[in-house]
Amino acid sequence: MRNQLEKLKAQALEEVQCATSAVGLEESRVRFLGKKGLLTQLLRGLKDVSDEERPLLGAMANALKEAFNAAWVTRMDALQQQEMDARLAREWIDVTLPGRTGRVGGLHPISRALAEIIEIFSQMGFPAMSGPEVETDWHNFGALNIPPDHPAREMHDTFYLSPGADGGQRVLRTHTSPVQIRVMESRKPPLRIIAPGKVYRCDSDLTHTPMFHQVEGFMVDRECHFGQLMGLLEAFIQRFFERQLPVRFRPSFFPFTEPSTEVDMGCLFCGGSGCRICKGTGWIEILGAGLIHPNVLANVGIDKEIFSGFAFGVGVERLAMLKYGIGDLRTFYENDLRFLSRYARGREV
Ligand code: PHE
Repeated sequence: MRNQLEKLKAQALEEVQCATSAVGLEESRVRFLGKKGLLTQLLRGLKDVSDEERPLLGAMANALKEAFNAAWVTRMDALQQQEMDARLAREWIDVTLPGRTGRVGGLHPISRALAEIIEIFSQMGFPAMSGPEVETDWHNFGALNIPPDHPAREMHDTFYLSPGADGGQRVLRTHTSPVQIRVMESRKPPLRIIAPGKVYRCDSDLTHTPMFHQVEGFMVDRECHFGQLMGLLEAFIQRFFERQLPVRFRPSFFPFTEPSTEVDMGCLFCGGSGCRICKGTGWIEILGAGLIHPNVLANVGIDKEIFSGFAFGVGVERLAMLKYGIGDLRTFYENDLRFLSRYARGREV
């Protein structure tokens, strides 16, 4: 029996060494050490050996098991490693290859323009905030120094809504200026903010759509003056249109700014000599601005003796039309794919 055990051990270890797959190796284990395996069968003979020999043979059998298991684990590791290497070689992919890209959409020209405007102002220290499109009469008009009987209300072609839960008059905001009020009500100066968003006016023709976009901007600080406003707007115009353009500030009127100005830039299309787009003037009006009216500061509880501010409002559709050369305002909202794919470049996925 001793010989048989020796032989079995040699045979088993040899088989482990020669196994070529994890599955084959596991089969060997069952064949030699399994419940009905060769070792079990051999050990049945133990009952017939002498009492002195039995412990010796038992120890040999245990040694066989241990040697087998150790060899088996080593071999299994090696086989699994080989199998993994083979699989990695087989399933190799070059992750540096460029992906297969397809054009699945693009930014609408209004979104493009908004993103560019937001980027420029954020680099100049004016982060973007937003406010509600359904506004109270107070935020849209009253707090902005436009009392109920003020003629400026006529100009705004307001959409009036049914009153809110508190019975107060509500409107679709006619400009982004109410965001000035909301920010000044809830934060303390110094403040620098822009507020991009949709605004609504009951007006629809060649050059007006009932919904359009504005970007409001304002700053309130201890020493805020008109020169800063001029410098900021000039820098913005140069960056947005990516060229040096003359800019001029014309005196104007807004109830919420004093003094007020309308800002023109040199016509992009004729360079100032006069064309159809600038109606022969050489100038294109692009925004309204001014120093925040003391009444507005008082309405939000900011001490006008300590603080002053400036504000401006730009029309996004107008900027987009000028920059991308879009001739008809209404094409923005017709969702004609031919128009969109022509102007909605700039983003591939
Ligand atoms: N809210 C004004 C408008 O819609 C624009 C503006 C904003 C003018 C801020 C001055 C200052 O016409």
